[in-house]
Amino acid sequence: MIKIAPSILSADFAHLADDVKKVTDAGAEYIHIDVMDGTFVPNITLGSLVVKSLRPTSKAVFDVHLMVEHPETHIETFAEAGADIITFHWEAARHHHRIIQQIKAAGCKAGIALNPGTPLSMIEEILPDVDMVLIMTVNPGFGGQKFIASQLEKIHMLYHTIKDMGFTCDIEVDGGINAETSKLVQEAGANVLVAGSAIYGAEDVAAAIKAIRG
Ligand code: DX5
Ligand code: ZN
Repeated sequence: MIKIAPSILSADFAHLADDVKKVTDAGAEYIHIDVMDGTFVPNITLGSLVVKSLRPTSKAVFDVHLMVEHPETHIETFAEAGADIITFHWEAARHHHRIIQQIKAAGCKAGIALNPGTPLSMIEEILPDVDMVLIMTVNPGFGGQKFIASQLEKIHMLYHTIKDMGFTCDIEVDGGINAETSKLVQEAGANVLVAGSAIYGAEDVAAAIKAIRG
């Protein structure tokens, strides 16, 4: 089952609630919330207060993507603010298994994200414990970057590893997703598709979501 996760990084920050409603009215299941700290990635975006403000305005699944150092210090705050899924970067953490347990104890689904330069083998031990793996198809930090096609093989390998191990785990992709690249990542096995500029930059948001869903 394909899920569309518009990234509000490309929305109008002066009208965030309206822009969230616009994409959920158009059928998006998730709202992808990019949290950047200016240290793990060279950009600063938003924090838990924004998630808390948006929560009463939407029933969508809030998919929080933490691009921050020390993610373990922010889990409870984002969970209390209304996050449904919390994903942290493998590269930003040391005690991955502990953080996954912490996210679950806070009542959220746990995701682990991998930068394009990080091999899949790094998450072998924790794979059975996560609800979602996020394969970055750009280097995190900014919207509107070019899709890195070499990640397709990683998605494909992940899909088969999960299948062979016999458990369920969502595969999310993030970065440079549009109607064309969406087709490629779906063929490789991804089922949660993040898109920022391709959705919020489109004249017709509903048509863009439909095209990405395929
Ligand atoms: C990048 C963010 C993405 C970003 C995607 O660091 O994690 O979620 O918003 O933007 P597009 O879809 O424009 O590549
Ligand atoms: Zn993201």
